[in-house]
Amino acid sequence: MKKRTAITDLKAMKERGEKIVMITAYEYSSARFVEEAGIPLILVGDSLGNVVLGYDSTVPVTMDEMVHHVKPVVRATQRTHVIADMPFGSFQTSPEDALRNAARLLKEGGAQSVKLEGGKHVADTVRRLTQAGIPVMGHLGLTPQSINQLGGYKVQGKTPAAAVRILNDAMALQEAGAYAIVLEAVPVRVAEIITEKLDIPTIGIGAGWGCDGQVQVWHDLLGLFSDFVPRHAGRYANLGPTIVEALKAYAADVRDGSFPTEKESFIKKPAAATPTETTPAH
Ligand code: KIV
Repeated sequence: MKKRTAITDLKAMKERGEKIVMITAYEYSSARFVEEAGIPLILVGDSLGNVVLGYDSTVPVTMDEMVHHVKPVVRATQRTHVIADMPFGSFQTSPEDALRNAARLLKEGGAQSVKLEGGKHVADTVRRLTQAGIPVMGHLGLTPQSINQLGGYKVQGKTPAAAVRILNDAMALQEAGAYAIVLEAVPVRVAEIITEKLDIPTIGIGAGWGCDGQVQVWHDLLGLFSDFVPRHAGRYANLGPTIVEALKAYAADVRDGSFPTEKESFIKKPAAATPTETTPAH
């Protein structure tokens, strides 16, 4: 049986200086592509609220929506480690609520670990989950679930005091048992220092090249979402216009009758000249 990437593999990768690659995916077909590409980590991010469900932030995403999207990603993969995001409201109320919801993501969804946003104030929750056997990835810097508090999608840790706060949060998460930390939208030097100070890997998004790994959102990387393209999005393909062209070509062919052809159709063979009858047994 093929083995999925484990959290212990990631620590070893940091120690070897081998960069860790992570990407989001939210359903079966894209998760199959990720595995084919040999990427070891999929995050079923609550960014699905924006790019799949059309919400204007990640705040409305529910536990049921997360479980629904984690399941097909797990079904599509055998080797990739699947991380499920804990949506807003699923872990802030108490460590016990967090444990119940994280357990759903593992038991019902089939994920191998969870990610949650926040620093020192969620350290007890991280401890509760890890003690119960649920690996936790932290998420610091720009934490989109706090958009209403942050007042916009802005770079975090720009002042020395703010940078120190993020570092202290990172140390608190590591101490509580987190196995890795996403650093989102923080200055390059801040991410570098945090990465040097931590034993666990950092995974950056808009945090420069000094992190132990990188994560990108599927739709940003492939040019599939144009409502909002963050500056930190790495564009490796622009599939949106290609898809629109293909759809226009299909619509034109249907309208002028050139689709479908025989190739896409089932033509009934002419009936046999003499109807077959049961041959009497000798
Ligand atoms: O939800 C998400 O996709 C994320 C990444 C941006 C790290 O949290």
